[in-house]
Amino acid sequence: MITVVGSFNMDLFIEVPRFPAPGEAIHGRNFRRAPGGKGANQAYAVARLGHPVAMIGAVGADAFGEEMVANLAALGVDLEGVVRRADIASGTAMIVLDATGQNQIVVANGANDTLTAGDIRRMAALFQKSRAIITQLETTAQAAEATLRLARAAGALTVLNPAPFAPVPDEWLSWCDWIIPNEGEASKLSGIEVTGRATAAAAARNLQTRSGRARVAVTLGADGVWLDTPEFAGHIPGVRVQAVDTVGAGDTFIGAFVTRLVEGAEAREAARFACAAAAIAVTRRGAQASIPTRAEVETQMSSGGAANGGGKG
Ligand code: RIB
Repeated sequence: MITVVGSFNMDLFIEVPRFPAPGEAIHGRNFRRAPGGKGANQAYAVARLGHPVAMIGAVGADAFGEEMVANLAALGVDLEGVVRRADIASGTAMIVLDATGQNQIVVANGANDTLTAGDIRRMAALFQKSRAIITQLETTAQAAEATLRLARAAGALTVLNPAPFAPVPDEWLSWCDWIIPNEGEASKLSGIEVTGRATAAAAARNLQTRSGRARVAVTLGADGVWLDTPEFAGHIPGVRVQAVDTVGAGDTFIGAFVTRLVEGAEAREAARFACAAAAIAVTRRGAQASIPTRAEVETQMSSGGAANGGGKG
């Protein structure tokens, strides 16, 4: 069992030819909505690979909340840890996609901002039976802290995806087995501007040193991922594809990477698998809607593609 503690957002997409300047109004097209949120996306990715997964999070008692929970329920995700708040809207993300597949995202956290340390502690029994526990920074700091602390105490593989970026005390890093930021998050967390592999290596080292114990994976979008572990420090290339929408690709990477680690794969192999999963995700639109099955990932890997994949979204 893998447990994900994190956010639910209904993603509202609009496509634009280019991003508007401040104060400018432009025409967009192809409005659509689909379940997202970093936590829910990561849980969905684990479930699509056929691994047992539980989700802890908060939604509003509204139609978006129902739809998002139903999307995970359809894959058999354990939802006992999901709370419904009567007095606040579900999380919502406004996502603007430009013609090159780049995105800008504004999130109204809504119910995600109500997740308490008590909501996490209530699920202590789930932590005890989880092989790995993943959290991000898209709910509350109290929830993230309680998750990392409890996960460490339970002896589960403790994984922090520091997204979206917020300052993280070194003590939190010391509870982690894995820290998995993208380039931007690694830059802000480490104070070292990540512009490629060499700077990703320096940022990973910085985080590893501050943690004292964690392994680090810095996702590099189309360039794959930089791994820093005692056994291997180096680059794993992505898989070259034509990206149409990178939203959720980073979450796909994390769900797939942790799944393979829990299944016993070593980090390099897990990273190759996760890069292949993320590469498929960027060729499809939407967050959860873009996440592949295990058979699709295995087919992608056996087709021998090289280079794109850690994912940014
Ligand atoms: O990581 C992608 C997710 O970030 C989107 O699904 C959106 O909800 C934002 O939270």
